[in-house]
Amino acid sequence: MSDLRRELYRGKSKTVYEIGSESELLVQFRDDATAHNAAKHAILADKGRTNSAVDGFIMQILAEQGIKTHWLKRISETEIIVRRLDMIPVECVLRNRAAGGICKRLGLEKGRSFAPPIFEFFFKDDALGDPLINTAHILSLNWATEAEILGMKALTHQVNAILTPIFDQAGFILVDFKLEFGRYQGELILGDEFTLDGCRLWDKVSAEIYDKDRFRQDLGDVIAFYQKAASRLGVPLKV
Ligand code: TMP
Repeated sequence: MSDLRRELYRGKSKTVYEIGSESELLVQFRDDATAHNAAKHAILADKGRTNSAVDGFIMQILAEQGIKTHWLKRISETEIIVRRLDMIPVECVLRNRAAGGICKRLGLEKGRSFAPPIFEFFFKDDALGDPLINTAHILSLNWATEAEILGMKALTHQVNAILTPIFDQAGFILVDFKLEFGRYQGELILGDEFTLDGCRLWDKVSAEIYDKDRFRQDLGDVIAFYQKAASRLGVPLKV
């Protein structure tokens, strides 16, 4: 397969390759970690393997629960085959508790609960620092249709309803997370990834941080905590 590979896109922590198929792509999870809009960068040994394992585990749970995803199979410890989506350039963030951006923006106390959870759209644009947007921007700029906007919101809430109890059973609070969607044969499909880079996960009892805030805030042992979370969730790290 390697001889057929052509790099299509190199993101901050994943590289996407064409593999001679119209409908499928290869995604490689790398060991790169970035934060603060890539102002901070490091190589964290074993990050790619850990993220790919967690992503595969979560994507398979979501698929079993009826959420259509791009994920097809894991072909090595760091590489997966996915459906080739026409990506919608927005990030869908769902917040069960206050942390990160929303605390700064609205002056909220970290950790307060949101009932119902808060859904937010961001424009996926590194140069602009992924600004907060609303549905009017998405519609008027033709990034997605009204049906797709409703679909992204509904699916993000569904993912939250599926994953919150799974993390709870492993002793974690799913504080917030980010999803990205695309189109495949006219249908809205979950793309990108679900890893500890794109969510906040706190221990239910100690409130210890198990997600990328360990990297953002220089708390140390980033991958050791990712792997402890994976182990508590029952994620097999090997293929
Ligand atoms: P925020 O608090 O920085 O707005 O992020 C909310 C959640 O979404 C957090 O778990 C990190 C994730 N996220 C990303 O992974 N990438 C992004 O570009 C954004 C805006 C959020």
